[in-house]
Amino acid sequence: MSPIKVGLLGLGVVGGGTWKVLTRNAEEIARRAGRHIEVAAVAVRDIEKARRLVGDDILVTQDGLEVVRNPEIEIVVELMGGDTLARELIMEAIAQGKHVVTANKALLAKYGNEIFAAAHAKGVMVTFEAAVAGGIPIIKAIREGLTANRIQWLAGIINGTTNFILSEMRSQGLPFEQVLAEAQRLGYAEADPTFDIEGVDAAHKLTLLASLAFGVPVQFDKAHIEGISMLAAEDIAHAERLGYRIKLLGITRRCDTGIELRVHPTLVPVTCLLANVEGAMNAILVSGDVVGPTMYYGQGAGELPTASAVVADLVDVARLESADPGHRVPHLAFQPEAMDDTPILPVSDVVSSYYLRMRVQDRPGVLADIASILSEMNISIGSMFQEPHGETEADIIFLSHQAREGAINAALDRIHELPFVHTKVTRLRVENLL
Ligand code: NAP
Ligand code: HSE
Repeated sequence: MSPIKVGLLGLGVVGGGTWKVLTRNAEEIARRAGRHIEVAAVAVRDIEKARRLVGDDILVTQDGLEVVRNPEIEIVVELMGGDTLARELIMEAIAQGKHVVTANKALLAKYGNEIFAAAHAKGVMVTFEAAVAGGIPIIKAIREGLTANRIQWLAGIINGTTNFILSEMRSQGLPFEQVLAEAQRLGYAEADPTFDIEGVDAAHKLTLLASLAFGVPVQFDKAHIEGISMLAAEDIAHAERLGYRIKLLGITRRCDTGIELRVHPTLVPVTCLLANVEGAMNAILVSGDVVGPTMYYGQGAGELPTASAVVADLVDVARLESADPGHRVPHLAFQPEAMDDTPILPVSDVVSSYYLRMRVQDRPGVLADIASILSEMNISIGSMFQEPHGETEADIIFLSHQAREGAINAALDRIHELPFVHTKVTRLRVENLL
């Protein structure tokens, strides 16, 4: 069979890795795909730099449209990032009847509904394994491996940069900025690293996972997002003392009234598998009603792990491109006409346990007044401890039992009005996962 021709839009960390894997494992990949996968054209900004990697035998251009409109090319692989030019090029590729492979979670989280609808209408595939959790085949697992299940929830560490930062800060005592710079050097971080630090990248990925798990449209704008930039070193230390580690988790759960969709720093018990996922590693726990909990672990970012997922998609497309479109796996796991409109819940409806830290004046009656507000709001205290702060102040740390976030917020509003509470209360969620 003749080789299938591919056009690469971008030859940076992931694009460069994809080129290397397709070159290094060409024969093994062809044995799996049934034909060779050949890069015929590349679009980049810096042509000289690209030529040093790919040589002089293929087209290298600064014009992505030249790749997308090249009649030889059957699969367009978008690895440029961003949501303007990348979106235009992907929509044009679809209009030209070409299949698309992308690692661009930011683009799919915002424009996925439009892109998948266009691809469905045109009968082409848009695959995105590399967009979530780098080298872990989590999309294939949910979309194909777990199809027997009504998925109940999933929770995961799905941003390598922040997990690397939290791990190094905790275990090495290194400062935030130094660890972030190292994550950037290693190619983990997004072009705009605030996407990583503020939880936006994890929310992009979680949005896609929720759609795949529950058969709902992509709804990034409804995700609740908190990052790690406001996390204090003392909370990491207090969590440790209480038997927990703080991880940036993406959590989505099917409840009676809707779907939770939230990314935030979370205390997880040190005995929990997720608490022991360190460095840039990612891990996702998925719970289905038939299979029970399953866990997926691996490198969530970087050149070769991400390229592993891109190439897996290329092999899938090469195998299926001649199949009748109706016989292919649906883009978002569910048949497009079977997607439903279960609402995404506001975060005030989320039920969780909470870690609360407040700095107060150290005098009789303070604890009793705070405890009585919590009790009036029906919030039960699981444990607490107090640590002196100077001569006259103390930090009080509570762990609550499960409560509605709306009730916690109402209690905090009242606690903030107390004259002896000197700082804004730090509120973190606690999840007792497996
Ligand atoms: P990157 O290293 O910055 O590479 C971007 C590539 O796109 C470069 O080759 C760049 O050309 C090219 N490019 C950018 N703008 C262009 C334009 N206007 N015209 C032509 N070429 C252009 O980015 P990356 O880390 O590989 O990330 C690529 C995508 O993969 C992003 O969507 C990212 O979110 C996603 N992703 C990344 C990782 C990771 O670990 N890095 C993991 C999963 C998913 P030059 O080389 O000439 O500058
Ligand atoms: N910036 C992302 C991360 C890259 O740190 O996980 C992988 O999607």
